[in-house]
Amino acid sequence: MLKSDFLNNLNDAQKEAILHLDGPLLIVAGAGSGKTKVLTTRIANIIHKKKAYPNQILAVTFTNKAAKEMQIRVSKILGSNATGLSWLGTFHSICAKLLRKHASAAGLNSNFTIIDTDDQVRLIKNICKAENIDVKQLAPKFILAIIDRWKNKGLYPDEVIINSKDIFEKNILPIYKIYQKKLIDLNSCDFGDLILHTVKIFEKNPDIKDIYSRNFKYILVDEYQDTNFIQSKWLIFWLQRVKIFAVLVMTISQFIVGEELKLKIF
Ligand SMILES: Nc1ncnc2c1ncn2[C@@H]1O[C@H](COP(=O)(O)OP(=O)(O)OP(=O)(O)O)[C@@H](O)[C@H]1O
Ligand SMILES: [Mg+2]
Repeated sequence: MLKSDFLNNLNDAQKEAILHLDGPLLIVAGAGSGKTKVLTTRIANIIHKKKAYPNQILAVTFTNKAAKEMQIRVSKILGSNATGLSWLGTFHSICAKLLRKHASAAGLNSNFTIIDTDDQVRLIKNICKAENIDVKQLAPKFILAIIDRWKNKGLYPDEVIINSKDIFEKNILPIYKIYQKKLIDLNSCDFGDLILHTVKIFEKNPDIKDIYSRNFKYILVDEYQDTNFIQSKWLIFWLQRVKIFAVLVMTISQFIVGEELKLKIF
């Protein structure tokens, strides 16, 4: 049961943002001003007003801590566990879930493993050894940073275009190719792959994309200013279709330092 006082302790701008259900909304406000409170109360209100089922709400944030906090806050307002909110989470957790469902479209099995930084470094070191690359000249962490940058730009190895003057990138691209092949052979992904593979699956399989773009009725993104290129691309798949219900929450303090700002709705 929804607690009847869920709109208490909110200022007018917050109430307006929560009650505004039909149309896009960009909330720009300062740090600690109650943006996440608006987002979570809005989710509860959407469910309360039966505007969407919990599994039709895509709510994205950046850290596991923030995702957990959002889940707890919605549960508190709804007075029960927000268990139906299967699409509330971090970009990575939501992508991992999508990828498990459609792993074969990325050449993986659904029980793929997600490797951590140590495993990534180990794999790169092994590749360098096999390829006679001196890791003292080309550090594995540097190689991984370049690979991650390509992944964040949405590029598989065969899509990378090298500026011929960039010797480092020129040397790293063959490593990226081997690394990516090894990951597939090992039925594994790194964190970057979770989003990259998902974006590629949607690009290449409109039927799969349609399942989700038909399902999601509301999209809410906390701290939108932190999205990188590939994450924005991922979001655009949904925004194209459900544009009118998207809510993007941004922290203005990162753009205008030292200015006290109230919650604003555009
Ligand atoms: N209108 C309000 N009246 C009283 N307390 C409020 C109000 N709005 C938010 N709060 C409280 O202020 C604190 C910060 O809120 P919240 O986490 O939603 O802000 P935020 O803008 O998302 O912060 P951050 O920039 O850290 O992400 C929370 O404890 C929240 O419950
Ligand atoms: Mg917040």
